[in-house]
Amino acid sequence: MDRVKIFDTTLRDGEQSPGCSMNLQEKIEVAKQLELMRVDVIEAGFAISSPGDFESVNTIAKTVKDCSVASLARATVKDIDTAWEAVKVATDPRIHLFIATSPLHMEYKLRMTPEQVLARTAEMVAHARKYCSNIEFSAEDATRSDWEFLAKVVNTAIANGATVINLPDTVGYTTPGEMRALIEYMVKHTDHAGRAEFSVHCHNDLGMAVANSLAGVLGGARQIECTVNGLGERAGNTALEEVVMAMHTRPDLYHVNTRLDTTRISRASKTVYNIIGQNAPLNKPIVGKNAFLHESGIHQHGVLANKQTYEILTPQSVGIVANNLVLGKHSGKHAFESRLNELGYHLSAEELLSCFEEFKVLCDKKKTINDEDIEAIVLHKTTTHDMPEDAGFKLDRFVVHTSNFTTSTSTVVLTRDGEKFEEVSLGDGPIDASFKAIDKIVNPEAHTFKTYTIHSISEGKDTLGDVTVRLAAGNRTYTGKGLSTDIIEASILAYINAINKMQYAAEQAKIREAN
Ligand code: KIV
Ligand code: ZN
Repeated sequence: MDRVKIFDTTLRDGEQSPGCSMNLQEKIEVAKQLELMRVDVIEAGFAISSPGDFESVNTIAKTVKDCSVASLARATVKDIDTAWEAVKVATDPRIHLFIATSPLHMEYKLRMTPEQVLARTAEMVAHARKYCSNIEFSAEDATRSDWEFLAKVVNTAIANGATVINLPDTVGYTTPGEMRALIEYMVKHTDHAGRAEFSVHCHNDLGMAVANSLAGVLGGARQIECTVNGLGERAGNTALEEVVMAMHTRPDLYHVNTRLDTTRISRASKTVYNIIGQNAPLNKPIVGKNAFLHESGIHQHGVLANKQTYEILTPQSVGIVANNLVLGKHSGKHAFESRLNELGYHLSAEELLSCFEEFKVLCDKKKTINDEDIEAIVLHKTTTHDMPEDAGFKLDRFVVHTSNFTTSTSTVVLTRDGEKFEEVSLGDGPIDASFKAIDKIVNPEAHTFKTYTIHSISEGKDTLGDVTVRLAAGNRTYTGKGLSTDIIEASILAYINAINKMQYAAEQAKIREAN
């Protein structure tokens, strides 16, 4: 069987979608998960787009060892030079440059003639190739391009040293039949044999990104570009977990394999959802809560007799582990750790201790602790800080008075560096009052309050409330997370977490300026 390479662009195409921006620590956390999952290429960002992007591409290039690391670049000298500067430290660096080839994009966006686009392709691929032998060239809006012209561009890119030719369905316009035919046409009409492989990059505007990517494979593509949970602009990109599990489930049809450790999928998906403060829709294929549930009597009967009656892939194959141990207040650190290991979490001694302490606090509030609670604790403890643990304000205590006929009041006490601060505020409900009291203490820099989301971690009235708050200041977004069986406390914790991150970033910027 041929191998299909998995090119993950969660940190570039995924991250650039609204509400999905990640800070450096979060990007590193995602990159680590991608490496453990054994994707072939991590597109770490678009190095020229901002100093922050450059730093994260560069840090990921230094950190990741088992995958190629790519940076996106437009077909300009400055973009390519910056991309190279950022990725050159990687074990296997890749420059990914692109130029649009559709009549619409060439005329209205680039204001270039087809001849100019051809000439630029030749010049810029050759320029990138001077730096590195792993060069990906993308013909943006390929699926709305003229095929004959596209073949000329592809041949030019290959002749000048491109080793991967990516044909994106930039606006999610194509269909499976058309995508397969496009790749077959390019395989037939270009001089690629032994020099370059074809890749597909699909957007999901018409809900066909996964199907189109698979059709590209049938046409001869040997790289799929995708994102964890299908993150991406507008309706998203090809979902990694779906496209990979389709190939794994139907080798009889696709005759290909990947090098992915599919048992890492569930964890990677949770990490990404946790960072962006979202939950998988219940019926999301592969990673949704209901993806492996059988509720109807007929289905349950069938599954009990033989799982394959209604199960085409197992939860275990994507890393979902059946719960066989209920933890509670009498469970010790070993039982806790062994459950974590079964769930795929291997923590440092320090992380383990802090999660265990949190677990014990939860045991006093909740009778039984299930896997979802444990995972929530671990995800909160291990992926939410991008600043020293002891920096910023901490919640000491709060008191709220609220009813449906009076104005709510909240008194909040915070500590910082051993000092206590107390403020009281009125508000439109207990959460608003608490946030206002915190603002009085912190006096945060000007920002916009972007989003507040809350969801319950598990079933039952004593469930943990998981709150995400997003604040925006300058061109950055700060995500704060809070977890508690008390939703007002979870909200306060999330708000303090976001404010701390914002204040810390501002302080660091001032220090950089002063130096
Ligand atoms: O959708 C697209 O065309 C892209 C390219 C830049 C690869 O993301
Ligand atoms: Zn894209």
